[in-house]
Amino acid sequence: MQNNSFSLTINGEKVLIQDCSPTLTLLEYLRHSGRVGTKEGCGDGDCGACTVAVVGQGADGRPQYLAMNSCLIPLATMAGREIVTVEGVGKNGLHPVQTAMVSLGGSQCGYCTPGFIMSLFTAYYKNEVNDESLEGNLCRCTGYLPIRRV
Ligand code: FES
Ligand code: FES
Repeated sequence: MQNNSFSLTINGEKVLIQDCSPTLTLLEYLRHSGRVGTKEGCGDGDCGACTVAVVGQGADGRPQYLAMNSCLIPLATMAGREIVTVEGVGKNGLHPVQTAMVSLGGSQCGYCTPGFIMSLFTAYYKNEVNDESLEGNLCRCTGYLPIRRV
């Protein structure tokens, strides 16, 4: 394998990356490869629209999910890693955080929604669904109250 080629796992699927530019971000790669559920807002780490879950392993061997802004992550640093995007969260039917977001009216224009879902998804598995788990996500529509009810 060439030095600038590597693989990573996205939503359970192994993906080979070839001739990777060192400046290409994970967000750019996701969107250019058709995974457009992950949104670009600020492109600068401030809005949370681009949030994905990076998969790690806890001390008990179970998966741990870390919410990260994909606009700040060089794709090459994800070599060998596993990530989950919003497409992966819902691929076997709505996840409980998605069901709650829908039933509590937490989405209006929807642009921020994938990022909120990813932050809620990671918080769900840490039993930490609270205001702090959403402090990296901005919404211009809802006034936050419906989202906070999730
Ligand atoms: S696009 Fe705003 S934090 Fe990444
Ligand atoms: S629902 Fe429109 S920005 Fe949040």
